[in-house]
Amino acid sequence: MDQYMQLFQGTAFSSQSSKEIQILKDYLFAINAEGMIEKVVAPEDAEYHPLLEAYQGKSNFHRLTEGQYLLPGFIDLHVHAPQWAQSGTALDIPLYDWLNTYTFPLESKFADLDFAEKVYDDLVSTLLANGTTTVLYFATVHKEASLLLAELCAKKGQRGLVGKVVMDDPAQNPEYYRDADTNLALVDTEEFILAVRELAKTVKQGIYPVVTPRFIPSCTNEALEGLGKLAAKYDAYVQSHCSESDWAHGYVRDRFDKNDAFALHDFGLLREKSVMAHCNFLDEPDADLFAETGTAIAHCPVSNAYFANSVIPVAHFHAKGIDIGLGTDISGGFSPSLFDNVRQAVISSRMLEDGVDPSLPAHERGVPDSRITIDEAFYLATAGGGESLSLPIGRLQQNYAWDVQIIDTKLPSAKLPIFDENEDLHGIFEKIMYLARPENIREVWVQGMKVHSR
Ligand code: GUN
Ligand code: FE
Repeated sequence: MDQYMQLFQGTAFSSQSSKEIQILKDYLFAINAEGMIEKVVAPEDAEYHPLLEAYQGKSNFHRLTEGQYLLPGFIDLHVHAPQWAQSGTALDIPLYDWLNTYTFPLESKFADLDFAEKVYDDLVSTLLANGTTTVLYFATVHKEASLLLAELCAKKGQRGLVGKVVMDDPAQNPEYYRDADTNLALVDTEEFILAVRELAKTVKQGIYPVVTPRFIPSCTNEALEGLGKLAAKYDAYVQSHCSESDWAHGYVRDRFDKNDAFALHDFGLLREKSVMAHCNFLDEPDADLFAETGTAIAHCPVSNAYFANSVIPVAHFHAKGIDIGLGTDISGGFSPSLFDNVRQAVISSRMLEDGVDPSLPAHERGVPDSRITIDEAFYLATAGGGESLSLPIGRLQQNYAWDVQIIDTKLPSAKLPIFDENEDLHGIFEKIMYLARPENIREVWVQGMKVHSR
């Protein structure tokens, strides 16, 4: 019997810190039966060659070929699974109109399990093919269809955190799409938590239930309070939207005379295992509250450009010690790819950057200390997501899950422009981050299991 379940040899990129990547050139990665990285061995280590010799030629030895590189699997902190069916639709209209005209009618169709299965099956496979190994999902108000999404994650090997959406306020939600009443919303949520916990016992990679008030405008005070209690009772993950758009932010100020952060906190919804999407209009006390409660931010740079006309000051929030990861926000963001969101996170941050020269007008447009580098954006999509979820994922390090994407830069059909045989590895990393397409993602592994190849 082999000591390890799998042994990989290749060059990998992982985050050393939020600012810097670590380049692991020609390392060995030994994966144990639980799908965790048990050992990371450098070429100069004494055990490198004996280990290599013991596994070479075996079916559980994987040597990356020239031009292939390992990256941690991406962690998407904000996906509306049903909205995959309308990706790219009507992003030119305001959030409120988009929700009522397109999104709620679409989501109401997920009462039909056959329709739900078609969309969810395709989405989970698409996200895996884009290198996304862990996803924090909003499903719909329907308990059964939400459970079906969790089952599809389980079956396809993706690490899924899934929420049955709560929107119970009859004054705010259309009759054709809302929880029948507040009590049922809470009962359904509790039954959903228990069902997902049962399902989780059957998989290795982890499937988790998430307490999911859609956003404050869609929920009654009773529902928000009940959901806070359920989160505490089950020590469950919590997700919602927080201070996303001028309209949503203003609605909460009118209703509670507070910002979203403090209102959510009053209901017990800001916890160590909470992830709040967008957070475009957090002020300093809001941000301090996030840091104190351990609440993380799902930064959705593509979606924020469309619905919020806004850029969050990632560097500033990082300096306060807030955990931040990336979200596609399908379909407020049109793309299923976190590569696209990594790119947009950098581009957006450059637009918000303070002008270097205080005598130029650009100085007044910016926010100091906003700019992030490609290394930092990569951190958001990987280690930052793992920290936001308090899970050992997103890094190629000992005691982390073997969640990886194998990138091939030399495919004839999708070759990256690398012409110098001795190009420095950070340069190659940058080319991968800016230019890789799904075609370049040759294999995806979650918890030591191959879940996608092309
Ligand atoms: N706020 C409430 N619901 C939604 C949604 O589905 N998408 C986005 N972007 N914002 C929301
Ligand atoms: Fe969203």
